[in-house]
Amino acid sequence: MRIAVLTGGGDSPGCNAVLYAIVLRAEANGHDVFAAEFGWRGVLEGKFRRITSRELKDLVNIGGTCIGTSRTNPFKTPEGPGKCLDNLQKQGIDALITIGGDDTNGAGFKLFQLGAKVVGLPQTIDNDLSETEYCIGFDSALTTASDALEKLRTTSRSHRRVMVCEIMGRNAGWLTLFSGIAGLADIILIPEVKLDITSLSERVSSIYFKQDYVVIALSEGVIPDNLSHPLVQETEVDEFGHVRLGGVGNWLAQEIEQRTGIETRAIVLGHLQRGGNPSAFEKVMGMLLGVKAVEMCEDGKFGEMAIIKNMKPISIPMEEVFKGVKRVNEDYLHLTQIFM
Ligand code: F6P
Repeated sequence: MRIAVLTGGGDSPGCNAVLYAIVLRAEANGHDVFAAEFGWRGVLEGKFRRITSRELKDLVNIGGTCIGTSRTNPFKTPEGPGKCLDNLQKQGIDALITIGGDDTNGAGFKLFQLGAKVVGLPQTIDNDLSETEYCIGFDSALTTASDALEKLRTTSRSHRRVMVCEIMGRNAGWLTLFSGIAGLADIILIPEVKLDITSLSERVSSIYFKQDYVVIALSEGVIPDNLSHPLVQETEVDEFGHVRLGGVGNWLAQEIEQRTGIETRAIVLGHLQRGGNPSAFEKVMGMLLGVKAVEMCEDGKFGEMAIIKNMKPISIPMEEVFKGVKRVNEDYLHLTQIFM
């Protein structure tokens, strides 16, 4: 087979481990693997290059994706899908593995419906794809964010300040909740729980009264009740229509300082969370999913996605993954109250 692979959307540590496993498993059965460069842009523009396990082996421990990524949406223009199908055919591609979140794999599913042979694989630090227990990138980003919270605690204590740490994750609070727990945040604020600024200020004051500092883990997707997000501009949307988040932490810090009179600072962790080397767990999960994706290509399981269920890689129809964003649910919500 000639298998094409692409990484789309936000990058993360672990992408190179996925790619290595795909190529290694493919080579073992005599298949060739071609990278579509910079995500869907590579398929649209017909930019493919052969990749080998030999070149990828040294990159497994390195963050980012060695084949590039972009937020290109092949369905943005009416001629996009046709171009993609033509280019895949011209390259003689028998199967395409799409690695990314709901946008990247959603486009893959639509192209599958038009006749392309597509297998999906979940990768996003947001960990917000339905059905799968795990998305590649989450564990490494979690480690970065929880380390940051630990570091912020010592400086907050030294200065007797409130520190607001804004964490990525879009409209799902997984990264904030888990890093908040591991990084011992005093307050965890996620999009799944309505923010009430009055009661928050009271909580801040009471924690401050007991320990002289407060660290708040805040999801970038938190939107205060009755207020529009201060920094999101409707015009700043990507090709998939997502607004660019980031900045709610600065707004919250000002509000807290005004309401409590306590000196407050904010930090936006931003893209730091997408960088760095993958954790060992990340690499193993990535490799399990990579191997599974190639097996699915061999078995003709197109229009399906490799996911993690009960810590094992399995395949399910892609449409089940796009039922909606996986948000923090009742099983976890009470944790925001316990760990504070
Ligand atoms: O989806 C991954 C993610 O890192 C989100 O957590 C974040 O909101 C977004 O991507 C940022 O995207 P960009 O890199 O395009 O600014």
